[in-house]
Amino acid sequence: MSTLDSLGRPLRDLRISVTDRCNMRCRYCMPREAFGPGHAFMARAELLSFEEIARVSEALAAQGVSKLRLTGGEPLLRGGLERLVEMLASIEGIEDLALTTNGLLLAARARSLAAAGLSRVTVSLDSLDEATLREMSDTPVAPARILAGIDAAGAAGLAPVKVNMVVRRGVNDRSVLEMAEHFRGRSETLRFIEYMDVGSTNGWRMQEVVPGEEILATIASRWPLERLPVARAGDVATRYRYLDGAGEIGLIGSVSEPFCGGCTRARLSADGRLFTCLFARSGHDLRALLRSGAPDAEIEARLRGIWSARSDRYSAERSAATSDRADGAPAKVEMSYIGG
Ligand code: GTP
Ligand code: 5AD
Ligand code: SF4
Ligand code: SF4
Repeated sequence: MSTLDSLGRPLRDLRISVTDRCNMRCRYCMPREAFGPGHAFMARAELLSFEEIARVSEALAAQGVSKLRLTGGEPLLRGGLERLVEMLASIEGIEDLALTTNGLLLAARARSLAAAGLSRVTVSLDSLDEATLREMSDTPVAPARILAGIDAAGAAGLAPVKVNMVVRRGVNDRSVLEMAEHFRGRSETLRFIEYMDVGSTNGWRMQEVVPGEEILATIASRWPLERLPVARAGDVATRYRYLDGAGEIGLIGSVSEPFCGGCTRARLSADGRLFTCLFARSGHDLRALLRSGAPDAEIEARLRGIWSARSDRYSAERSAATSDRADGAPAKVEMSYIGG
């Protein structure tokens, strides 16, 4: 039985953040000025336990959720994640259990994650050029290490592996063709993501967004492309295939072409708040309810109530003319907190 929100959208996907920590400091996500040594990360006792995460997932699966995605921060930093994967994979109704990672720890974990029941992974990689990657991530990372993680995931059967590239004008837009060339003809699907105004610390400016249309034109001028049909209702990526048969790419244009109309996603933060939009300013505290000894029926009713009241469509309403916090509202929550 599925609950519809106030705009008629069902709840189908849950994105679960398992930690707010990360071993990278991408400037568009966790800038060092805000996430330096002085930043207070969540304490262990604040984090939902695996049992609590599974309980929420089970309640939502009973209400129509069929797709789960583990995110962070960097989800592989959460100790013993394989045990959570095992618990979630066995929930009735869950057809797809995926993980979004920066890939640094993936080579060592791909096989155990697959054995635990993970379906597939998506790996973030913003450039193959070491200096450019460093500029994006503010972390000394060898692209080869992330590529090794991607290979290990494919070999472990965590496929199809997707690769996410956030594009920032003047920073890594020069890497678009090189990335397309590298992943053409390979089994991974490369997706280009418009830089979004998530959170309140990354200093986002519209001038830094490279519209999906422009990315598409750049690639198509070298290797002609044609649009593919939507794979699954509510998907964020628009898919294209190379006419020469070298595979497909995706464009995620949440700034230039918002996809709120079909948004079926909820997000659970590592400390147990449920958010009904990536750009929300506040969430619904489930942890207190979970720890109060509430019976399943009460938890299910609360979840249904939250979703049926939902009216979020931030990207569709976003206006360059309205500056953040102009209305004195609380700051938008950070992506590392809410889960990408
Ligand atoms: P697939 O199931 O493989 O299609 O995964 P996905 O694309 O939904 O997940 P992924 O974690 O790879 O996210 C890709 C990009 O889309 C990231 O930049 C996300 O922040 C963004 N994204 C995912 N869901 C939403 C959403 O509901 N709204 C907006 N605005 N962006 C989203
Ligand atoms: N805009 C677009 N994508 C972002 N991500 C993180 N921050 C942003 C942002 N401001 C991406 C990550 C990861 C995915 C979950 O979200 O690179 O691939
Ligand atoms: Fe970490 Fe991913 Fe955010 Fe980069 S985008 S800081 S890798 S969570
Ligand atoms: Fe969904 Fe909010 Fe993203 Fe729109 S901006 S697609 S409502 S999460």
